[in-house]
Amino acid sequence: MHEKIIILDFGGQYAHLIASRIRREQVLAEIHQPDEVDLAFFQDPNIKGIVLSGGPQSVYDEGSASCDPEIFKLGKPVLGICYGHQFLNQALGGKVVPGKDSGKEFGRAELTHDQQCPLFKDIPTVSPFWMSHGDEVSQLGEGFEGCGNTDLCHNAAVWNADLNLFGIQFHPEVTHSEYGHQILKNFLDICELKRDWTIEKFYEEHQANLKAQIGDKHVVLFVSGGVDSTVAFALLSNILGADKVQGLFVDNGLLRQGERDYVEKSIKAIGARLTVMDEADRFLGNLTGVYEPEAKREIIGNTFIDVQKAFFATHELDENTLLAQGTIYPDTIETGGTKNSDTIKTHHNRVPEIQKMIDAGLVIEPLADLYKDEVRALGELMGLPHELVWRHPFPGPGLGVRILCAEETTEDIPQRDVNAFTLQRNKKPFEVLPLKSVGVQGDFRTYKHPGLLTVAEDDLAELESLSTKLINHYTDINRCVKSLGHNYDGRIERTKVKQSDVNPERVARLQRADHIVTTTMHEMGVYNDVWQFPVVLAPLSFNNVGEESIILRPIDSIDAMSATVGKLPWEFFKKVTTEILKDDSISAVFLDVTSKPPGTIEWE
Ligand code: XMP
Repeated sequence: MHEKIIILDFGGQYAHLIASRIRREQVLAEIHQPDEVDLAFFQDPNIKGIVLSGGPQSVYDEGSASCDPEIFKLGKPVLGICYGHQFLNQALGGKVVPGKDSGKEFGRAELTHDQQCPLFKDIPTVSPFWMSHGDEVSQLGEGFEGCGNTDLCHNAAVWNADLNLFGIQFHPEVTHSEYGHQILKNFLDICELKRDWTIEKFYEEHQANLKAQIGDKHVVLFVSGGVDSTVAFALLSNILGADKVQGLFVDNGLLRQGERDYVEKSIKAIGARLTVMDEADRFLGNLTGVYEPEAKREIIGNTFIDVQKAFFATHELDENTLLAQGTIYPDTIETGGTKNSDTIKTHHNRVPEIQKMIDAGLVIEPLADLYKDEVRALGELMGLPHELVWRHPFPGPGLGVRILCAEETTEDIPQRDVNAFTLQRNKKPFEVLPLKSVGVQGDFRTYKHPGLLTVAEDDLAELESLSTKLINHYTDINRCVKSLGHNYDGRIERTKVKQSDVNPERVARLQRADHIVTTTMHEMGVYNDVWQFPVVLAPLSFNNVGEESIILRPIDSIDAMSATVGKLPWEFFKKVTTEILKDDSISAVFLDVTSKPPGTIEWE
């Protein structure tokens, strides 16, 4: 029973970010949906403060997200952020209006505060904060007074000293707000709560809870080799003893080179029990003749469920055997801003069959209260190898979503003299490549062409910024790539997209390139300088040399919600390109220089 902060999620994309920042201050923060908790819920004495998150709606719109305003009178400190700030003021009689064009702020703004409000303790009087709003509070709620403003926003920070209510238009949770973390710390001080949420405490308390919950039962768990399921597996094996926990690893034929051996060895090394199920033929068979990205994802997900079902058909789960899953906290919550990723993630652990087992009490999820950084900390605490705990994330459908497919063969012969093949002639500094990949622009997934940059620039930050400008301007592309090298000679005279599905030959081709990237990262000591590094295979060749192209997608991110290009040294890219091009079937190697948004991390 920890003292805690409740975050009411009004649908903003940063609710998880607020919670994880607060947890870094050793305070338990829980996210709840405003329409699922009532006044009685907030009377829990362990709830010491409330944060109202941002949200995409306007508070004056009918049906916009809201909560019971009576909770503002409980005497518990409240911090409203962006939409939460506007809601708080409106709920107490203030007014919110659409900002005039000059009142809309996106990005950095200088905030001046009056040095009176405790929320700004130890923060310079003028400091930069991150803004992202179209509406503004034009009239303050009852009992509020202004305590901070920017050039464009008069009521950027307000407080009601009697009721301990605070409203801020800016986002303290994003790393670009230099003193944002201090704001959150100050709010926690105002809430006067114990900072007792540590991973050591969690481990200590959780062991006893899990033991009580599981008793003498046996547990089966599907491990993927990823951090979450491995830590869940190790935790359960530690607590219950290895003989009570059966790990199952499905080889779906879409794994990285050497992955199966790696997982077997590392699981054995931590003293746990693992059985490998060889299902490669089943997965690859189901993918034959399938070309659409979402169809592939669905087939892989369904095949995984079939494998699980086949297992449960012969090993029935009952009151003596439970299914364990490595579900982590963000997977358990549906928030507006993360609905897409939740759909992806819940594929495996919230499908109807599993949901039925959850409802019947046959499933345990020992990490369901933790964020990824906490899962890693727990892994380290239990003594798991550092390398295992800090592995890059890898998608459930594996290389299946990194092998682009094409339903038919098409050839494109650029006629520069007639039509300029979209080169400098028509002033575009890129050529449109004749295949498509997924992107994210606004709240929508897009499916558009990549643009192959034809500029000489080789500064990665410049390329990334050019890519953003071009994608904002030209509607036919959603990402940009830069050529790193090719096996054809001269300039591009002909491009060809070859009909292809996912098959063992292509899996092996991608595995080889992916392996070169991973081993080179380790050799050059840069593995931990990027957050993730997808390597993608596309059925695209140039000048009839080779069959396919490889795209490198180094990623810098904290939570996969937004990302920039991993800025590894050119020496690295040169080295891997030379190695990859030793395979004659590879026509060209590209580097993806697109941030997220507008590009997604994966190409499918
Ligand atoms: P995107 O491509 O949406 O990826 O920017 C965000 C993060 O999610 C991972 N990802 C997946 N993970 N099943 C998964 O388990 C999937 O279908 C899937 N698609 C993307 C991706 O690797 C990145 O870390």
